[in-house]
Amino acid sequence: MKYPKEYLDEIKTRLKVSTVVSKSVVLKKKGKEFVGLSPFKNEKTPSFTVNDEKEFYHCFATAEHGNIFDFIMKMQNLKFGESVKYLANLAGMQPYQFSKLDQEREQKFKEYLSVYSQYVNFYHEELLKNENYAYVRDYLKKRSLNIDQVRKFKIGYVEKNSRIYEKLKQKFNEQILFETGLFYLDDKKKIYIERFKGRLIFPINNILGQPIALGGRIIENKDYLAKYINSPETTFFKKGSNLYNLDFARKLSNKLDHIYLVEGYMDVIGLSKNGIENVVANLGTSLTDQQILILNQFFGDIIICFDGDESGYKAAVRAAENSIKELKPEKQISFLFLPDKEDPDSFVNKNGKNYFIDFTKNNKISIHQFIFSHYKKQTENNPSSLAVFEKKLRSIVNTIKDNFIKKYVLEYFLEKISELTPYSNQNKKTFYIKKTKSLELTKKYYNESQFITSMELKEFSLIYLIISNLKLFQANIHLIENIKLFTKVNKQIFETIISELKTGILVNTETLNLDPELLKKIYKFAPIKHILKNKPNDDHIILELLEDISRDLINFDLELRIQELESKFSKDLSEVTFNQLKELKKKQNIN
Ligand code: CTP
Ligand code: MN
Repeated sequence: MKYPKEYLDEIKTRLKVSTVVSKSVVLKKKGKEFVGLSPFKNEKTPSFTVNDEKEFYHCFATAEHGNIFDFIMKMQNLKFGESVKYLANLAGMQPYQFSKLDQEREQKFKEYLSVYSQYVNFYHEELLKNENYAYVRDYLKKRSLNIDQVRKFKIGYVEKNSRIYEKLKQKFNEQILFETGLFYLDDKKKIYIERFKGRLIFPINNILGQPIALGGRIIENKDYLAKYINSPETTFFKKGSNLYNLDFARKLSNKLDHIYLVEGYMDVIGLSKNGIENVVANLGTSLTDQQILILNQFFGDIIICFDGDESGYKAAVRAAENSIKELKPEKQISFLFLPDKEDPDSFVNKNGKNYFIDFTKNNKISIHQFIFSHYKKQTENNPSSLAVFEKKLRSIVNTIKDNFIKKYVLEYFLEKISELTPYSNQNKKTFYIKKTKSLELTKKYYNESQFITSMELKEFSLIYLIISNLKLFQANIHLIENIKLFTKVNKQIFETIISELKTGILVNTETLNLDPELLKKIYKFAPIKHILKNKPNDDHIILELLEDISRDLINFDLELRIQELESKFSKDLSEVTFNQLKELKKKQNIN
C-alpha cells in the first residue's frame, strides 16, 4: 500500500532533516548546512552534511544521500513503511490508517493542486498583462506594491465576469471544481459563481510552495462586502495548520533564528518588500498549537506582532494564552506591540527595515512578561482582586506542557506577585537576600558584629592552611592559584599570598606583610585550626584538607551562579541560559 504524498509531506514539514539526524549524529552548524562525522563510516574529519533547506543529507565519504526516510531506513535498518511509522511518531502524528479511499483521495489531491495552480497562474498573468486591469495596477501602486512583490507572491486579480469555470470544466469534473472552494453554487440560477470575483487574490501555499487556498481582498470600498475572504476549509486545506508565506520563510531558518508572525497578507508583503522576509501570517483565525509547533520546527524565537489596535491586542492575548502551552526550554515566544493605529505593513513602510529591527530589539517582550503585565493591568490593589490575579496566573501556568518551563514561569509569576505583596513575603525575601547578596551583607556585619558567613569561614580555613604551610604550597602553587574566593578582603589577602609565593623567594608569615588585624581574625576564627590540632603534620593530610576546602568553595561558587542563572532564566527563558544552567547543575552533581 502506498502512503499518500500529503501524509509524507506533513511528516517532512514537521521534522527538519537536522532534527532527525542529530538524534544519532553530533551536528555543527556551518553556514547554511550542518556537518558531522559520517554515521556510515569510521572517520576523523567530518564529511557528512545536512541541508534543511534542500531537505536532504549527503555523506561525502560514502556518497550516500537522501531524505529523512532514507536516513532512518539506513540507520535503523528499517523498511520504508516502518521508517514512516517511526518518523510519524517522532513528529507527533497518528500512524496512518490505510483504506480503500486512499488512492482516490490522492488522485483527488493531485487534481485539486492542478486546479489551484492553473487558477492562480491564470489570474496572476492577467493582472500583469490585461489592459483592462490598469485600475487594479493603480490600486497596487497606491499601496506602493511594485511588480517584484506581485511576482514573488503571485498576486492575481479575478475579473468580475470571469469565464474560467467553463475552461476548467473541460479538464476537471464538477465535483473537484466545487471542492476547491473557488466556486459556489447559486441555488436560484443553478450556476457556479466565482467566490473571489472582483478581488485581488493572494495564494496560500502549503509548505512545498503549492497553492492550496486563497485570500481575497476587495479593491473598492464597498461596505456590504467583507474586506477579506479566504477559501473555505476543504479536504486539503485546514486553516489552523497553514501559515501564509511559510513555504518561503522556512527557507531562511538556516540564517535567521526568529520569525515574525503577523495578522495579514499585506503585513507579510509590506515587511518582505522592506527586506524583512522571515515573516508569516496566520490566516485571519486565532493562532493554533499546531501553527506554533510548525514554526518552532524551524525557528527558535517566534515574534508575534499584531496590529496596534484593540483587536490586535486582544488577538495577542488569545495567542499568548494559547501558545504558552507549547513553550519549550530551547524556544522563545515574544510579543511586539506597535504604536496605536499602526500595523506591521504601515509601520515598516513609514520607518524602513533598520528602524523596524531596532524597534523589535528594544520593545519585544517575552510571552510570560506579557501575560503578567496584561493581567496585572486588570488587578486592583485589594485582597480579592489580587487573589483572582494569582489564581488566573496559576491556571495559565498549569496549561504549560513542559515541566521545566512550567516551574520557572510559575517562579517568575510568584516572584513578581511577591513584589506586589511585600509584607506577606518577608520571610521569603530575607532568605533570598541572604543567599544572593551575601557579599555585601557579610562585609557590613563583619565590621559591626563579627558576623561571619560559612563561606567566609571556609576562606579563613584556606588562608590559615596556606600560611601555616607556606613551603609546601610554594612547591605546589598550581594546586591553589586558581581557587576562587568571594569575600573582598579575603580575596585580597589570598592574591597577595599567591603572588608572593610565585616569586620563588622563600617567604614567611612576616615577610608576607599581611594586615595584622585580618590575620588575627583568621587565626581566631578559622575552623580548620581545631582539625589541624589533632592531626600529625603530614603533607599528604594537608593536601587532602586543601582538596576538601577547595571543593566546598567551588560548590559555593556553583550554587551562586546557579541561583543567578535561575533568576535570569525565569526572565529570558533563553536556550543559552538553559544550557548554561544544565552545565552547572551537571558540575554540581559531579562535585
Ligand atoms: N481578515 C479576514 N476577514 C476580514 C478582515 C480581515 O479574514 N473581514 C484577515 C485577513 O487575513 C487579513 C487580516 O485578517 O489579512 C488582517 O486584517 P486587516 O488588519 O483588516 O487587514 P490588513 O492586513 O491591514 O490589510 P489592508 O492593509 O489591505 O487593509
Ligand atoms: Mn492590518
